[in-house]
Amino acid sequence: MIHPEQQRRAYLQAMGIDVWLPRVGDDAGLTEGSSAAAGLGWPELRECVANCTRCELSQSRTNTVFGVGNPDADWLIIGEAPGAEEDRRGEPFVGRAGQLLDQMLFAIGQSRDSVFIANILKCRPPHNRDPKPDEAAACREYLERQIELLQPKIILAVGKIAAQNLLGSDDPVGRMRGRPHQFGGIPLVVTYHPAYLLRSPSQKQKSWSDLCLAMQLAAEVTA
Ligand code: URA
Repeated sequence: MIHPEQQRRAYLQAMGIDVWLPRVGDDAGLTEGSSAAAGLGWPELRECVANCTRCELSQSRTNTVFGVGNPDADWLIIGEAPGAEEDRRGEPFVGRAGQLLDQMLFAIGQSRDSVFIANILKCRPPHNRDPKPDEAAACREYLERQIELLQPKIILAVGKIAAQNLLGSDDPVGRMRGRPHQFGGIPLVVTYHPAYLLRSPSQKQKSWSDLCLAMQLAAEVTA
């Protein structure tokens, strides 16, 4: 069944009328332009993602990876893209990196069920290559709609791909971490990807201080 909002958008698009995506906050960061995801609720958005064929990754995926967690979460964790295991199970961060992410969440009094976890891409890039810009662009409106629905108090971008895509920057993580950013008016903190921390455990201390910064920023947001 076509959702009424999707139908409305189809009409407007057929008439050549641009439909604008509402902003989360005052700051830019969100894409403006026509969007099939605008106005959708969680179930419709999930279905839209499950049926997405906007980029070539839809040909090779086993499952889309929509994201998991609490739809009222204060914390939104954004990673890169599903890997092989995530593609098989349809859930983000389920491998070794996911176990470390769970430990990081535990350390800040959160859990997989209390936060929401998503990725820049909903489908696995073959051989775990980096997402291509056109793939990230095609997927972006889904993530933006998730952010609008969640209205999190804090976004934690884990790893270079998430941080660069969300902040529109080419900087390495080392230059983006350790200070507050914003995405659509929502406080955002960058930290290392758990897969990187598994390879470079000496960086865990820095990651902990990023988590502390994120906790502080979240606490400053009035409920
Ligand atoms: N699994 C995910 O879901 N995202 C990542 O960024 C890495 C592994």
